[in-house]
Parts: sequence; C-alpha cells; structure tokens
Amino acid sequence: MANKPWGGRFEGKTDRRVEQFTESISFDRRLFKHDIQGSIAHARMLAHVELLTTDECQQIVQGLSEIQAEIEAGRFEFVLEREDIHMHIEAALIEKLGDVGRKLHTARSRNDQVATDLKLWTRDALDRIDGGLVTLQRAFLDAAGRHRDVILPGYTHLQRAQPVLAAHYFLAYVEKLARDRSRVRDCRERLNVLPLGAAALAGTTLPIDRTHVAQSLGFADVAANSLDVSSDRDFAIESASVLSLIAVHLSGWAEEWVLWSTQEFSFLALPDAICTGSSIMPQKKNPDVLELIRGRTGRVIGALQTLLVLVKGLPLAYNRDLQEDKPPLFEAFDTVEACLDLAAVVVEGAKLRTDRINERLDEGYLDATTLMEYLIREGIPQRTAHEVIGHLVGLCEQKGLNRLADLPEEEFSRANPKLGPKVKEQLGVANAVKAFRSFGSTAPEEVERQIGIWCDRLK
Ligand code: ARG
Repeated sequence: MANKPWGGRFEGKTDRRVEQFTESISFDRRLFKHDIQGSIAHARMLAHVELLTTDECQQIVQGLSEIQAEIEAGRFEFVLEREDIHMHIEAALIEKLGDVGRKLHTARSRNDQVATDLKLWTRDALDRIDGGLVTLQRAFLDAAGRHRDVILPGYTHLQRAQPVLAAHYFLAYVEKLARDRSRVRDCRERLNVLPLGAAALAGTTLPIDRTHVAQSLGFADVAANSLDVSSDRDFAIESASVLSLIAVHLSGWAEEWVLWSTQEFSFLALPDAICTGSSIMPQKKNPDVLELIRGRTGRVIGALQTLLVLVKGLPLAYNRDLQEDKPPLFEAFDTVEACLDLAAVVVEGAKLRTDRINERLDEGYLDATTLMEYLIREGIPQRTAHEVIGHLVGLCEQKGLNRLADLPEEEFSRANPKLGPKVKEQLGVANAVKAFRSFGSTAPEEVERQIGIWCDRLK
C-alpha cells in the first residue's frame, strides 16, 4: 500500500478488480487544468499563511506547471493504481519534489478539491455555452435581416393560423436563446462560491485563508458551511437543467426545419454541406444534422435525470457516489456545445424558398383574423365578428375558393353591412401583416424596431 497516498493504515494490496471498479481517471483526467489551477491557488495561500515557505511554494508552482505541460503534450502516464486525476498530479509532483511535494495536500481533502475542480471546469464550460448561444443568436438575427420582406404562414397546432414576417419568426429564437443565456448567467453566479478549505467535511485546524484562494480563483464568495459544500452538486444539476432546456429549444427548432425541408412544405433549402445521402436511394438528401440535434436532446435530459437520481437520498457529507457526477455532466456539456455549433452552421447556410412559400400563402385563410378585427374596430362585438367571418370562411369552402378575397362583394355585405367595399383593402396576407399594431407583434415597424434592438445588443 506504500504506493497509495492513503495506504498508511492498510496492510494488504488493493484487489485489481476494486481498482478497476473505483477508478475515475478514465473520465476525470479532463479536469487536469482546473486541478492544477486549484492547487496553485492553494499553494500560494499556504505560503501566504506561512504553512509553506516562499521557496517551497515556488517549487510547487513550477512543478505543477511542468506537469500541466507534460499532460498537454501527451507525455504524462496515467495508471489505474493512481485512481483519479488528483492523485496522479500529486504523485507526479512528489516524484519531482520529494518532501516539498508532500506538503501540497496540507489543509485540503480530495472532497473539497474535487468540488472545486468541478466548479472551475463547469464555470468555464458555462462560459463556452454562453459563447455558443451568442453565435447562434447572431445567426438567427442575420437570417432575420436577410429575409426582411418574406411572409410566412404562422402555425398553431401545426395548422395555418395567421401570417407572420420571417424576421419575426427568426427573432422568436433569438428571444428563447436570450432566456437560455440569462439562465446560464444565473447558474454561473450561484456556482461561483469556493468549496476549497472545507477539507474532508469539517474544515481544518490549520490557519488557512480561504478568501485568498477565492480571490485567486475568481470566486465571488467562500462557502460558509463545510458539511454542505463537500456534498453540494447543485451546480451540476442546475447546469444540466439549463442545458436540457437549451436542448429542448433546439429540438423544437430542428423538428420545425426537418418539416420545412420536406417536399410537402418546401419552405427551406438546406445546403448540401450539411445534408447526407442514402446508401440505397440515390435521390435522397436528408437533414441528418437537424435530426441528430433533435435526437441528442435525449442524452442531455438523461444526464439531468442521472444527476438528480445520483444525489437523491445521499446523506451528508462526501459519498463516493458523487464521483459518478462527472460522466453525465461532461456529456451534457459536450452534447449541447456541439449542437449549438452545428445549429449556427445550419442557420447560416439555410435559405427560405420564398417562391414556394409565396405560391401557397393564399391557402389557409391567414387573413381571417385580421378581417374579424376590422369588424371589431367597426364596433361589432368580438363574438359576433368571429361568427360572421367564420361563416364567410365556410362559404369559401363550399364554393371551393382558396381566398376570402375571391368571394363576391355582395356576400360580404350580406354577412354584415359593415363589410362594405373597403373590405378588399383588409384582405390578402400582405395587408393582413401591415394591419398589426401591438407591441411584440409581427407588425413590420415593430419587427424592424426589434431587429434594431438585437443588432445593438449582439454587436
Ligand atoms: N475521484 C473522487 C471523486 O471524483 C475524488 C474524491 C475522492 N474522495 C474520497 N474520499 N475517496 O469524487
């Protein structure tokens, strides 16, 4: 047991199968940079409170930096006996420095160390997600700018409902992603409290200065209860939850665009570069990227489930169960990062097929609600106006007419005397869109204003 840092009280060797079962180095090695970052801050604090000499601290910092370079260059050996990334790095330091290296773990336990490493890693990962969200917001905003005059059928229940400007449609996703960004910010803020110094669970009798460590690592605060903090994985769960919602947003958008790129819709032309073919049907061009973005949502929501079930019923403080937090957390971040990147590529490359969209804009009586509101402005109660226009739509269907505008004038005035000759100015999708007024609506001036606001915000 001499090779184990905890081997003092043991006599026999660890069973190989136990080593294999308990190791985490296969997945926590990706924490190496953050582990070293935390250790350097810890060593500097130990020197600050004179638990290390300045010279010892310098040797440790130097040694840790060398180890980081070795890992980055692929010159570092990972072995099962050393269990996890913390013991690997510490053991390598001791190999380099002897007794000085043996001082680094003063006033620290792997329990507060791993919590700190994982928070540092998660904080960086949240920042990358925020970057991915901004890039995708910009892609949607650009698409809004590129399709300024395009009108789309808007849907509810996936049935044609009312006309909307394409720019209005794209901005809807800019807004969803803005809420995602605010959740990322929120999560980062609550996460940004230092665990290190909680030691195993109770703190330490040594005169450490946790504020010193917090400052060097950019934590806004120091965790106030050592028992709480060594078991706290709220930040991992919150992150997975924020990521799940991002994935859910992307899945809805991806589904929409899968539909839009079908022959049946023909709203969207996807560039060849983001599609794949079929090994048997030569004519196929499939939107696989969109399908996989939709499908990978399962992994992210799965990670959230895994994490919640992992901590459910865990007593204070550290339990080895918590080692299982990393694979789902990494998977959730990796998945969403990749999905955001690819989503931006798709949005940048996609073109609306305005010819095909326009050909069929007259279908679905998209102007019916606008005409009803015209009657309301003329003083007719809403319920009556609804009935009148519903009746006219019914007439169209009986006569096989696609458009309200194709009904003879006398049908309008017969349905309601307020529906005089001026009615024609209300009809058709272009007039219907122009008639909108309310804040947040698809009114052209309103949409222009929103584009302006987002251009400023995302500059
Ligand atoms: N590899 C462990 C983990 O990820 C590090 C902490 C181990 N602590 C312990 N007391 N065995 O959770």
